[in-house]
Amino acid sequence: MEPKDFSVEDIENQPLQQIDIDSNNNERPNPNLEESNPNLEELLQVREGEAEEYFPPNEKESEEQEKKVPINEIPVPSFTKMANADIYDQFEKSQKVFKSKVEKFLPNMEDYFITPDNFDLILETLEKRYPKEGETQLLQWKLEDIRQILGKILIPDSVKPTLDNAKVLAQYISEMEGDQVDILELCTGAGISAMMTWKEIKKANPDKRCSIITTDDALQSLLVAETLLSLKGVPVRLVSKQEIQNNSVFGFDGVSLVLSEASDIVNYYALVEKNFSAVISDHGINYFEKDHHHSIVNQIPNLLKKGGVFQVCALENEPKMSLNYKKMALQILSFGKDLSKTIPDAKNPYEIEEVDGLPYVRAINSAESAGLYMLLREDLKNLDIISFGKYLKSIIGVAKVTKKLAKDVKSPISYTASLLEGSKIIPNDKDQKLSIARSLLFVK
Ligand SMILES: C[S@@+](CC[C@H](N)C(=O)[O-])C[C@H]1O[C@@H](n2cnc3c(N)ncnc32)[C@H](O)[C@@H]1O
Repeated sequence: MEPKDFSVEDIENQPLQQIDIDSNNNERPNPNLEESNPNLEELLQVREGEAEEYFPPNEKESEEQEKKVPINEIPVPSFTKMANADIYDQFEKSQKVFKSKVEKFLPNMEDYFITPDNFDLILETLEKRYPKEGETQLLQWKLEDIRQILGKILIPDSVKPTLDNAKVLAQYISEMEGDQVDILELCTGAGISAMMTWKEIKKANPDKRCSIITTDDALQSLLVAETLLSLKGVPVRLVSKQEIQNNSVFGFDGVSLVLSEASDIVNYYALVEKNFSAVISDHGINYFEKDHHHSIVNQIPNLLKKGGVFQVCALENEPKMSLNYKKMALQILSFGKDLSKTIPDAKNPYEIEEVDGLPYVRAINSAESAGLYMLLREDLKNLDIISFGKYLKSIIGVAKVTKKLAKDVKSPISYTASLLEGSKIIPNDKDQKLSIARSLLFVK
């Protein structure tokens, strides 16, 4: 069969069940599981067009409007396995090289790791798929930032809270009744949290259908997420706002990516009174200004069903990151020492150095750091200097950007907690005075 690509227009013009997103993915939306359509027309009348701001009804547009291609309709081919066989092939080859090392030293990352070659490949793919004509509208986030967001998978410490949260959520989902799980994610980024959340929920609940709707207002983020998720075997599709409106996303056992501003989608779902099993945002809405963050968090209880979960995770302003790379390199070179026995120190998770009264993290004493150093050492032992160098370079780049992004967390987790009675901060101040990131858990 000839390879075939799909565009967003294809997706909009076809019934969902007929779209062949991935030849390997036999999971198809089950129309019986779809929820009844809310009568949007009626809602629009009652609320005097309030919802139109969020999701304009699908009416025939004037010729003038048709010329200005709306941002969510810029034709972007879907990333299908058939059309990208060579990329899948390269990805798998590189995965195989690292698989045994990851299993041995970073067992929790087994399903999630990417190699430095995988990382380059995903970004090259993004550059090819990126529609240049939309650049000025689409560059809300610089490509360099999304590079580093994806690069976080190379540093298990930096995605550990995301993975911990996904595991906690999977347990809550196990206790919920019913076989349909609906999750709303705000700020997709590179799709790391969507990938972990979907996989952990499916691992703990193989018989449940898990539909994650994730939204980002930057197309480049969605394209990176789509690539990562498909290469890592998570069913994924780019969907239009029309599909959001007709509810077809809730029959899909996988991740639906939608180009939308976070508040717009929250306002829309609040308006149609949709109740989710969970709403999550990982290093997402905490970057928003306090007013903006507040307006979203205020609506969360209404968006959750009883027992539903709200989870957010963000970097903390204190401590600052200033890793001691020289020490890190020396540890990697200390052949003979089993770092998995010497480094992890649960009581003192960080080595802190105070500079002008500010705490700087010089090293992270976690099982993940130890595992990463051992893995890098293995590369050196095998004289794979190139892969060692690449890994080290990527890690340093990501650590630098984490430092930069931490400055932009305008609504820290403590602020979110102040808005939601009954919410829990993890780890809390008493358990751990300083933490690079914290999460918030709220159960309705
Ligand atoms: C740090 S990333 C999120 C990381 C993500 N959770 C992951 O696992 O890869 C933040 C994302 O928020 C998106 N973003 C920023 N402002 C937004 C808004 N107002 N609405 C929707 N997405 C937004 C950015 O485009 C960026 O992709």
